[in-house]
Amino acid sequence: MRRKLAAGNWKMNGTAAALSELVELARQVTPADAETLICPPAPLLYPACDKLRGTAIAIGAQDCHAQPAGAFTGDISAGMVADTGATYVILGHSERRDLHAETDADVAAKAGAAWGAGLTAIICIGESGEDRTADRTLDVIAGQLAGSLPDHATGENTVIAYEPIWAIGTGKTPTLDQIIEVHDFIRARLTGRFGQQTGDAIRLLYGGSVKPDNAAEIFTAENVDGALVGGASLKAADFAPIIKALSRA
Ligand code: 13P
Repeated sequence: MRRKLAAGNWKMNGTAAALSELVELARQVTPADAETLICPPAPLLYPACDKLRGTAIAIGAQDCHAQPAGAFTGDISAGMVADTGATYVILGHSERRDLHAETDADVAAKAGAAWGAGLTAIICIGESGEDRTADRTLDVIAGQLAGSLPDHATGENTVIAYEPIWAIGTGKTPTLDQIIEVHDFIRARLTGRFGQQTGDAIRLLYGGSVKPDNAAEIFTAENVDGALVGGASLKAADFAPIIKALSRA
């Protein structure tokens, strides 16, 4: 049985004042709920871990560098992320692939660094609207999966997030059948490459315009083990109902 995971990606949103939302979320989420994770901007990693110690909410970063240290102005290493108390790191988000030209090989190198620091990597993949229209979705997913995921992935060190780019921040979501098709495809690829046991243990999240009113339907899909949520994770009032829907699924 894969443990469900509700992950919030705050992107470049939130200052110290937003920590109160985390405290409120921690008040509503219990250990009996789905595993819950918030990935705030890097300056909030230390205070967020501090505030949430002893609660049911874990903290993660939104990126890390592949190298352990050095002359990389503005970057943070996986070891630095782990030092804050964070336990997860999002890698290869489409915004980083698009706006920072990250390649599959970059993402794979970062995943290796994350594992080395004891972090669980949430590796993001997903097709553009153009890919979807041209019926290239599964080819794109297969390529990203093969290139971004190093060997030695396990259910403990890796989570895959399927985020169709055209669904991110748009209010558009794929149909349930489209979500099922892609998640079943990813599962088959993982079991094909890593074997049945490991392939079955890696959790698959759906991301892209997940909201309190569409979450329950998305979570009915067998190979959807949770969600990676952007906008609706910023407020406890929006994220808590999504976590509760996942906990009931
Ligand atoms: P939205 O939930 O705001 O569409 O963002 C999804 C996302 O990119 C999470 O990583």
